[in-house]
Amino acid sequence: MDINKPRYTPMSRRRRIYEGKAKILYEGPEPGTLIQHFKDDATAFNSKKHDVIEGKGVLNNRISEYIFQRLNDIGVPTHFMRRLNMREQLIREVEIIPLEVVVRNVAAGSLATRLGIEEGTQLPRSIIEFNYKNDQLGHPMVSEEHITAFGWATPQEIDDIMALAIRVNDFLSGLFLGVGIRLVDFKMECGRLWENDLMRIVVADEISPDSCRLWDIKSNDKLDKDRFRRDMGGLVEAYTDVARRLGILSENERPQGAGPVLVKS
Ligand code: TMP
Ligand code: ASP
Repeated sequence: MDINKPRYTPMSRRRRIYEGKAKILYEGPEPGTLIQHFKDDATAFNSKKHDVIEGKGVLNNRISEYIFQRLNDIGVPTHFMRRLNMREQLIREVEIIPLEVVVRNVAAGSLATRLGIEEGTQLPRSIIEFNYKNDQLGHPMVSEEHITAFGWATPQEIDDIMALAIRVNDFLSGLFLGVGIRLVDFKMECGRLWENDLMRIVVADEISPDSCRLWDIKSNDKLDKDRFRRDMGGLVEAYTDVARRLGILSENERPQGAGPVLVKS
């Protein structure tokens, strides 16, 4: 064991419920709760590209905690309960709706490619898209017709999801604008939260620079996972910048668990 590593001991005896590309879900301490663990793995293009970027999980845990807590504070329901440690948070167990809800304000990524619109073009209005969460199929884009026909969500649930997506977009756009960042687009996931016989849709998963496009207002520098997708380097530095601007990390704090610092001579 590397004694220089932070003293983080994973609880090996707890039950692993699910392992995804960047996160693991463990059984929580009480019924109806789960522990969401952020890994350092980065993947892109449906896992064709993979790397481990030391410190990414710690930063995403903190940034996602901050965003979900702020959403809870303004009455946007989320699965988030509290952060447990540098890599883990306690969440409510929800039934994940198998959709990636993408909200776009500025053309970029797959929209720019698909419709031949230059990256950076302001969209006439915010656009919501749905992708079917299925790794084997590469998360294909689907319409409301597909969603209701195949029973992934009801028309009422789609309405609720879209209303949530717009609230999250408005809130996040303002939050990031306040710290000099343009929210180009983001992806969110929703889940059904059961409370006795009542069910409501809540925001689930994570919201972090892994799942958003964040551009510096002045320079248009990318502060998100496109740095990895496009081999630009500097991912941890960019995520740290986002965390600092949001006031999550103080000026000199390094994300713990970020590994050794490369001292330039
Ligand atoms: P896209 O332009 O590749 O469709 O991505 C739109 C937004 O969704 C962007 O902010 C990145 C995010 N995203 C994910 O979080 N996970 C994914 O699997 C994909 C494809 C995109
Ligand atoms: N689709 C995700 C992304 O590019 C990750 C992956 O496909 O492996 O953000």
